[in-house]
Amino acid sequence: MTDDLLALQHATDAALAAATDLRAWDAVRVGVLGKSGSLTEKLKGLGALPPEQRRERGAAINVAKDAITAAIEARKAVLEAAALDAKLAGERIDVTLPPALSALGLIHPISRTMDEMAAIFGAMGIAIAEGPDVEDDWRNFGALNIPAHHSAREDMDTFYLPGLNGEARRRVLRTHTSPVQVRTMLGQEPPIRVIVPGRTYRADHDATHSPMFHQVEGLVIDRGITLGHLKGCLIDFLRAFFGISSLPVRFRSSYFPFTEPSMEVDIGWNRRTGELGGGGDWLEILGSGMVHPKVLANCGIDPREWQGFAFGMGIERVTMLKHGIPDLRPFYESDIRWLRHYGFSALAAVALHEGV
Ligand code: DAH
Repeated sequence: MTDDLLALQHATDAALAAATDLRAWDAVRVGVLGKSGSLTEKLKGLGALPPEQRRERGAAINVAKDAITAAIEARKAVLEAAALDAKLAGERIDVTLPPALSALGLIHPISRTMDEMAAIFGAMGIAIAEGPDVEDDWRNFGALNIPAHHSAREDMDTFYLPGLNGEARRRVLRTHTSPVQVRTMLGQEPPIRVIVPGRTYRADHDATHSPMFHQVEGLVIDRGITLGHLKGCLIDFLRAFFGISSLPVRFRSSYFPFTEPSMEVDIGWNRRTGELGGGGDWLEILGSGMVHPKVLANCGIDPREWQGFAFGMGIERVTMLKHGIPDLRPFYESDIRWLRHYGFSALAAVALHEGV
């Protein structure tokens, strides 16, 4: 190899060694092998040589070119590996550091109560059913044996919605979760075991009433269901929900159009202190009864073969009682101070109380 080629090879090696990043490396590469690089210029010079020298010179340049190209590629590999190492070092994470604290959201008391109800009734083998907030008046009233001029319709201060064209049944915002009983019975064969938590609406607004509130409905249909099943289910539920294994529970005869017989259920409390469980006073907590044979028949279920019980209760009401929340209105105000005070950690397990 001629001296000039050896010199170029050495100069390139030195320049590559001095190039400590890929940009500097690329400048060296272009300076030697680029369009007007030093080696390229030597190749261009071949044409000016007499033919007998040209072969030899050409072969020598090619040998030098191979060596230089190999050196350039080798340096590139080294610099790329170094660049990757530096990037990885910069992104290193110390997994032993404690996590940065961030604000955690809390579960609203209404959601918490629904979760607890799902857990307690779920343990009894009862599933969850749902229905729409907008109902027709047959499902909300008629099918439930509440005829057109029944006082229960006025009692419930119904929000009526404008009728759809050609729609015979008036639409309403459901005044209770009971229409989902109708939907469930029409939609599935017995046996049926469901609870229905959800929103309900009545045109009523004061310190203890909100135009939108929540209820949970229960419906159990099977062969041979008796009042004893109803009582056992609700006593177990109430004691588990309030976490008081000796909670007194009283069934008091009442009236609902959709159940026969009907009962209101009271729990023992102390009226003076507000404490649940003792004190000799009674507090009404929910409505219940054996599903009226007419309601079963309205929903396509033969009342001679199937019996059942149902119940309904206000979710805000039992939540206020359980947690000593005095006022209904802040439930819907999204006041962060109230939510921080009464909210529940998302990680707090919904546990079934022991001893119940
Ligand atoms: N739907 C009733 C209400 O809103 C509550 C209720 C009472 C539901 C008795 C029932 C029941 O299923 O059996 O006041």
